[in-house]
Amino acid sequence: MANRSHRNAGHRAMNALNKAGQKHSSDALVNADASARTKHVYEVGDCLDMLAKIPDNSVQLIVCDPPYNILLADWDDHANYIAWAKTWLAEAERVLSSTGSIAIFGGLQYQGEAGSGDLLSIISHMREHSKMLLANLIIWNYPNGMSAQRFFANRHEEIAWFAKTKKYYFDLDAVREPYDEATKAAYMKDKRLNPESVEKGRNPTNVWRIGRLNGNSLERVGHPTQKPAAVIERLVRALSYPGSTVLDFFAGSGVTARVAIQEGRNSICTDADPVFREYMTKQLGFLRAEGLLNSVRQYDVVEGLENLDPSYEALTPGIPEAAE
Ligand SMILES: C[S@@+](CC[C@H](N)C(=O)[O-])C[C@H]1O[C@@H](n2cnc3c(N)ncnc32)[C@H](O)[C@@H]1O
Repeated sequence: MANRSHRNAGHRAMNALNKAGQKHSSDALVNADASARTKHVYEVGDCLDMLAKIPDNSVQLIVCDPPYNILLADWDDHANYIAWAKTWLAEAERVLSSTGSIAIFGGLQYQGEAGSGDLLSIISHMREHSKMLLANLIIWNYPNGMSAQRFFANRHEEIAWFAKTKKYYFDLDAVREPYDEATKAAYMKDKRLNPESVEKGRNPTNVWRIGRLNGNSLERVGHPTQKPAAVIERLVRALSYPGSTVLDFFAGSGVTARVAIQEGRNSICTDADPVFREYMTKQLGFLRAEGLLNSVRQYDVVEGLENLDPSYEALTPGIPEAAE
């Protein structure tokens, strides 16, 4: 089938700007003060209660890894999945800034196992009921996983990246992959290629080969579906900028908070399970053990939005409306 990615409205707008030699208006955001002290709030509670407390257009990136009715745990059970999901999807759209994005994790392989929820049903709901643009369907391809006898063993999950508007922020340079020395030397000699681009490295594409966390991974805090920091890091680096706010209302292991601290973003994380507090303590312990952060980045962590002084404004530092 022909490649129709050029028909994607977001891609078309960005390509038009590039061809005209113009910078996207959100490029100005890259110069935000990366050394500022960042704020991190976490709460135990329902996603909708947290969302209700967040102002409109105030969040740059939502990392969203929802439960999918596959009965992995008590929280993984919703009788009418889409009726529930559409409430937080609408709230997510409301709180995102015009340059903002939501990255929704999921897969298609569980469909029908225990209910009506999977990423396909979310994407199809968004197509009909949301103005957000599907910028990419990212394939997270992992080399490790369960074996299978009656079908091909699964080695991928998907991440649907929706942008709130076509003015979405995207920093490709922050996530380029360096070429190996031999390839780089060959490309540098190739007159058809721009040496500056070769120097920057390659676009990592929408297929990300990153291992899942093994049972004995040092990153693990005990959550059954903890995602690797490397996956969250790539989303945070590409789709948010220093000083902006990242929200995760199904925060699970707290990995998003940890990555936000490391990357100089603010964060708001919530999870319904009280064990989340213990996971956060472990994540913060990892950061302290790594040591380097105290000298490089200054950050405050508080439990409960109401304990953030002076107010939520600290989390939404002057997100400018991107120009037309
Ligand atoms: C798939 S896990 C998220 C894992 C997380 N991304 C990580 O890497 O650690 C989904 C999480 O959603 C939480 N959850 C389920 N229903 C919730 C609700 N209504 N509000 C907030 N959190 C909820 C569960 O406790 C669970 O930790």
